[in-house]
Amino acid sequence: MISSRSPSTTALWVAWARAVEHRRPDRLFADDLAAAFLAAAGAEAGTPPAEFREALPAAVATRTAFFDEHLRSVTVGGIRQVVLLGAGLDTRAFRLPWSAETSLYELDTPEVLAFKETVLARQGAAAICRRTPLAIDLTDDWPTALCAAGLDPGQPVAWLAEGLLPYLEVEAVDRLLTAIGRLSAPGSTLALTYNPGALRALGSAPGGRHLDRVGVAHPALPGHPEPWLARHGWQAHAHDLIHQAVVHRRVPAAAMEHTSPGTSTCWLVTATIPGQQSHHQRPSR
Ligand SMILES: C[S@@+](CC[C@H](N)C(=O)[O-])C[C@H]1O[C@@H](n2cnc3c(N)ncnc32)[C@H](O)[C@@H]1O
Repeated sequence: MISSRSPSTTALWVAWARAVEHRRPDRLFADDLAAAFLAAAGAEAGTPPAEFREALPAAVATRTAFFDEHLRSVTVGGIRQVVLLGAGLDTRAFRLPWSAETSLYELDTPEVLAFKETVLARQGAAAICRRTPLAIDLTDDWPTALCAAGLDPGQPVAWLAEGLLPYLEVEAVDRLLTAIGRLSAPGSTLALTYNPGALRALGSAPGGRHLDRVGVAHPALPGHPEPWLARHGWQAHAHDLIHQAVVHRRVPAAAMEHTSPGTSTCWLVTATIPGQQSHHQRPSR
């Protein structure tokens, strides 16, 4: 069942952060639809609490650019099926240079996708690939629905779970990983954000009450994503978010002084199935 607390608030906050990035003269990507979602939702609903307004744009711009690069590279590598789990107000279907044969599935709750489709239709937005929105709770039988919607489990898939795991209880995250594995033909890739420690810390910080209000569960996942994903059959590379933010010029290099190797709690993760063709990004520059 979908929580009675609307999870769509944080999808709007992410769109708000992408709209901030879109307005920058040195932007890492263009996302003009982000502002349209915010306008439709109203400023009050779409603006995150003051506590998040400095860090969120840097983190979201970094992870968006990072996963844009990842998805570009895996599709150049030949993958033609992309699944966005907890897609929210992601507009990659409209802004990345997909080949016309690419099928992209967006899975999210009915309320988020209903809002999204209304705004996209009003904007006359045209997807570059074959886009299929699929309204479903990711704790239900989404694999059956996804295959019925057209996913071919015999062909490789590029999965992306960006900003999703904090919403799910730890058992649901494990079930999700198992289901993804079953639908992943050789050559598939998996990308996700992983930050259980940071969200636990935020939960007890001044802004943390807002995360509870919007339905973020702070799941107690293992501290490091690589061994955890290895247990699910994936060979993963975890990229430190702050390091990536420096690489993408979204935090000053001085921020690195506060992190040392092995202490990160926020990762951008890319993974492949060992022994298969590798499509994932190499460890960062
Ligand atoms: C923080 S937003 C991130 C959205 C998007 N991936 C992005 O980065 O812009 C998390 C999304 O996960 C969705 N979500 C959370 N729990 C879900 C569930 N059980 N089933 C389907 N979607 C869910 C929310 O509705 C929300 O759109």
